[in-house]
Amino acid sequence: MENILAKLPSALLGWYEQNKRDLPWRKDQQPYHIWLSEIMLQQTRVEAVKGYYQRFLSELPDIESLANCDDDRLHKLWEGLGYYSRVRNLKKAAQVIMQAYGGQFPSEHKQILSLPGIGAYTAGAICSIAFSQPRAAVDGNVLRVVSRLCRDYNPIDLPAVKARVQQELEKIYPIDKPGEFTQALMELGATVCVPNGEPKCQVCPCRDFCRGQDDWQSLPVKLPKKERKQENRTVFVLNCDGLYAIEKRPNKGLLAGLWQFPNVSGFLSPEDAVTWAENAGLHPADVQLQIQRHHIFTHIRWDMRCYYIQVREKGNHFTWLTLSQIDEQAALPTAFRQFREEITNV
Ligand code: ADE
Repeated sequence: MENILAKLPSALLGWYEQNKRDLPWRKDQQPYHIWLSEIMLQQTRVEAVKGYYQRFLSELPDIESLANCDDDRLHKLWEGLGYYSRVRNLKKAAQVIMQAYGGQFPSEHKQILSLPGIGAYTAGAICSIAFSQPRAAVDGNVLRVVSRLCRDYNPIDLPAVKARVQQELEKIYPIDKPGEFTQALMELGATVCVPNGEPKCQVCPCRDFCRGQDDWQSLPVKLPKKERKQENRTVFVLNCDGLYAIEKRPNKGLLAGLWQFPNVSGFLSPEDAVTWAENAGLHPADVQLQIQRHHIFTHIRWDMRCYYIQVREKGNHFTWLTLSQIDEQAALPTAFRQFREEITNV
């Protein structure tokens, strides 16, 4: 592995300089900016992140404003990105940075690694890109590149494999350009040694020494995934004189602290849906519309049946808002937002 990886710096650095994409988080090396972008880019595509990144920074331009940001506003800035614990950890870490480091992002690897929500990957990215330290940032892209380069059939999901790749990469890190090297590896994975479909080996800067070219289809090796749990839910879009009912989810568990349309476990028939609304004290009129949608989380798939019901009373369980209030204030995760999008069609 080491022999092949040693060829990477000279192969990648010049190529990266010529081929790097112009991305909003590549305009400076401020640790706050690098940190935010790397957290957003975990589990989310570059194209989807761009707009969120710009909006987040225009509202929360520094670590202090993030540390003091109200949770509802924070969730709203993250709405649609998913994996909301990422943004709660971001705020927790910002508070630690305010209290323990006087608002200055710490520069030592150990200090960075101990911040909430920062693991080996993010610490490596921040240390190398923002602080020019020879630390590797090993994510799925880098694991794919390395497993193909070295024709390494060890399953990349094993923590020991990841740790070994990090260790081997750090032996060959170019000390004059660590940040560029980190990003060059990511860029190769994103644009040449791509995750879906055929890698572009003809234009790869590593084509002369890569051992995986004939076997790209079987590399990287991944362990079989656990099957998703499937759940049925019934969702209610309740309209009372132009106001819509929403409620806050519990502070623990799936989509913690975010807003939702009222919903219950299982599929209810239209008659049972009306009975549910009666029991909630809402005085329902007829069901206006019924639609089915699904949403896929990491470990669960929700199949949802949604009833749009006009009601005459607000009961006392819910928060009632206009559509524009919902759009401006309430972080409604994608699982529920899709039913809001449909309201204009009711
Ligand atoms: N994916 C993860 N980090 C990235 C970065 N800094 N630039 C582009 N893609 C990335």
